[in-house]
Amino acid sequence: MTTILKFPDNFIWGAATASYQIEGAVHEDGKGESIWDVFSHTPGKVLNGDTGDIACDHYHRWQEDIKIMQSLGYPNYRFSLCWPRILPEGRGRINPPGLDFYSRLVDGLLEAGITPMATLYHWDLPTALNGGWLNRSTVDAFAEYTGVIARHLGDRVKYWFTINEPWCASHLSYTFGEHAPGFQDRSKGILASHHLLLAHGTAVKELRIAVPDVKVGIVLNSSPIHNDPVSPVSEDQIRFMDGELTRWFADPLHGLGYPKDILEDYVRMGVLDSEEPDFIKQGDMDIISRETDLLGLNYYTRQVLSSDPARNYDQKRDVPQTEMGWELYPEGLYELLERINRDYQPKQLMVTENGASYSDGPDEYGRVHDQNRIDYLESHIRTVWEATQAGIPVTAYLQWSLLDNFEWARGYSQRFGAIYVDYKTQKRTIKDSAYWFSDVIKRNGLLVD
Ligand code: FCB
Repeated sequence: MTTILKFPDNFIWGAATASYQIEGAVHEDGKGESIWDVFSHTPGKVLNGDTGDIACDHYHRWQEDIKIMQSLGYPNYRFSLCWPRILPEGRGRINPPGLDFYSRLVDGLLEAGITPMATLYHWDLPTALNGGWLNRSTVDAFAEYTGVIARHLGDRVKYWFTINEPWCASHLSYTFGEHAPGFQDRSKGILASHHLLLAHGTAVKELRIAVPDVKVGIVLNSSPIHNDPVSPVSEDQIRFMDGELTRWFADPLHGLGYPKDILEDYVRMGVLDSEEPDFIKQGDMDIISRETDLLGLNYYTRQVLSSDPARNYDQKRDVPQTEMGWELYPEGLYELLERINRDYQPKQLMVTENGASYSDGPDEYGRVHDQNRIDYLESHIRTVWEATQAGIPVTAYLQWSLLDNFEWARGYSQRFGAIYVDYKTQKRTIKDSAYWFSDVIKRNGLLVD
């Protein structure tokens, strides 16, 4: 017998994107340069030398993209703003065409009955801010940028996300060097993380001033960290990985300060000179823990740590996985929601990104049969439903991503979209999974046998 797993009324469904991954038009209308413009043009940094120069050409095709969303009945759309389009030097001079672009986009969304949700920072930092997140002055610049854009769009945009994935913007970018600006130095990663958290707090204040009825929060990437039963690592390594990925961000955001055990580890590792480093100024922790209205979580997979280097990546373990080589592990989303709710009690939890990379493209009839993506979405949405049943205040599920797009260091090799993009012609094709998701949204629930 078929039943419907109903979601709470007013549940927020939609899709997400990020500016550098879709917009293209990197030299147009007075846009300044971002660290991703530089990084993607640095040989060896992005697979196949791909860049976001054109991407999905969304800067010119946004009306078509809105029409597709409207035809599918997507009620919400999370997009990010390209800071150097708005303030080419990072602060000071405003670039009116940049502001206008986002203003038109927001108007277009509203006319189509789609609620806009804006992310302030999804990694395209202006290069004019020399030193980027290593400099405390970037925090002031971020506050200025937030004020400008919030005053401009705040009459129409009520949902604001400050920083997307501060772990990626700090450690992946400054400690591990996989993302722009590409440093490999944990001391830098830690410093950047502090400034990103401070930037979040300053933006919360700016948004509360400029946007009536604002709903604001940060977006964390987190996953359960599990031990490989075949070749386990020490429990201490699990504690450290989890601490650096999740508690380092979630604790101070919720007024608990930086986790003491991780501070001690950092001193022991020689990447901090003291458990009370100089860069943490008086009052910083109050700024970071300013009250928010929601917490966004991006979830894709769990992480399994192994003492055997040959098993440390999912593709080396014999598990079902997406084309990113990420294990299919929907239970991890429940575990994450349950844990974050228990440990931090945010007012609302939003799944701000979840999705899968599969390369299926149009067949001879122009249909994209991406059943594997349907299966991925279904299992994860079901998990979210279970969380709502358990009283966890999950209020949103946003699919990553609306469009196939520039997947950072992996370039165009990975397709996460609800909509297939032919990068040569820019033709969009709606995938079967998007029709399927559209039905889930219409009935506000999952059909199960
Ligand atoms: C997240 C990013 C997003 C996308 C997905 C696959 O970490 O926020 O831009 O690249 O991963």
